[in-house]
Amino acid sequence: MIDWISSPSGPLRGEVRVPGDKSISHRAIMLAAIAEGTSRITGFLEGEDTRATARAFAQMGVRIDAPAPSERIVHGVGLHGLRAPDAPIDCGNAGTGMRLLAGLLAGQEFDSTLTGDASLSKRPMRRVIEPLTRMGAKIESSEGLPPLRIAGKRTLRGIDYALPVASAQVKSAILLAGLYADGATRVSEPHPTRDYTESMLRAFGWPIEFGSGWAKLSGGHRLRATDIRVPADFSSAAFFIVAATLAPGSELLLRDVGMNPRRTGLLRALRAMGADIRESNPRTQAGEAIADLIVRHAPLRGIDVPIEIVPDMIDEFPILFVAAAAAQGTTRIRGAAELRVKESDRIAVMARGLRALGVRIEETPDGAIIEGGKFTGGEADSAGDHRCAMSLAVAGAIADAPVRISDCANVATSFPGFVELAQSCGVVVLAG
Ligand code: S3P
Repeated sequence: MIDWISSPSGPLRGEVRVPGDKSISHRAIMLAAIAEGTSRITGFLEGEDTRATARAFAQMGVRIDAPAPSERIVHGVGLHGLRAPDAPIDCGNAGTGMRLLAGLLAGQEFDSTLTGDASLSKRPMRRVIEPLTRMGAKIESSEGLPPLRIAGKRTLRGIDYALPVASAQVKSAILLAGLYADGATRVSEPHPTRDYTESMLRAFGWPIEFGSGWAKLSGGHRLRATDIRVPADFSSAAFFIVAATLAPGSELLLRDVGMNPRRTGLLRALRAMGADIRESNPRTQAGEAIADLIVRHAPLRGIDVPIEIVPDMIDEFPILFVAAAAAQGTTRIRGAAELRVKESDRIAVMARGLRALGVRIEETPDGAIIEGGKFTGGEADSAGDHRCAMSLAVAGAIADAPVRISDCANVATSFPGFVELAQSCGVVVLAG
């Protein structure tokens, strides 16, 4: 078990480039693997989650070279070129890996099994099993939980599916199965979610129509290799954005941050709270909006987080809890019940962790009510959740006394080098 100690720090200064986007890195490996030809991925996230996805395809006969850190050369085998894996595929901690792979593997000629770590083994899979079964897939689970046993040689047919919850993972699983299905597959969402699968399918030459909250494609085409440059992950930048906002005297530059509007709801929430975050050098790279962000310290005030931005900041609630706990006044979060089925129950873990640091916070079934104030020092458990661990480290940097955070090893799933990068811009955090 790896623990951290995060201590009262000075201002954050300088510039950082956080690692590559996790969502894009998973998808780049998957589509490059089943494309025809050789694709080069740069800015690839060297995290445990995305490396597990790369290993999965290596297990299915795809040659993936790593000529340099954060670079992959994927020798695509074509839509029907994957080989039966010799053993169950271990997705590690990655919900994205498992759910997207479930869709892709549902259309193969061979049987496969997907497993995961203790956290992933508790995460709901019915949300993908149900629509994939409607398409003709056969997937066995233990009461909707991993491992997933996926039968091969099934004939899939396209469906028209309205997602009951806003989930890019479910949408993507259905679209990936749709590549192998007869006829058209159409998905619609109760709220638009990140559209990386859709835009990347288009970049690999697959005909697809999509707009805000819907997508449609048909089976029977081919993917052609292409090169992908992965921007810095907004969700990883979020810890630095909040830390620089909260620590007096800070001025921090974050480079190359992915600014897809379906990811940046936190910016809207923080600006409504009074944050000073400027975008510079906005540009588009392979259809994705990217910018550098300049963050200066600013005092925050509590807000009612608008319910409609919740899906656009679904991974940023742990760090928003910290911002809210350091703001003046009350912050109310509603409509975020999905947080209870992430890598941990993030509402419960953050409420417990912040309470241990003297914060007044009330849990509700779909959110929390957080009273702003100060953090005392203390001990807080991240429950093995990478985003909770990094959020609690940010709390420690502006606390009155050191904060000891337990169970931080999983930070390597999404943000290898977090401690070193935080230290480089002034955060006093030690890994032990
Ligand atoms: C992701 C979608 C989101 C997000 C996860 C990554 C993706 O999950 O929380 O970290 O890459 O598609 P849901 O689809 O469960 O909302």
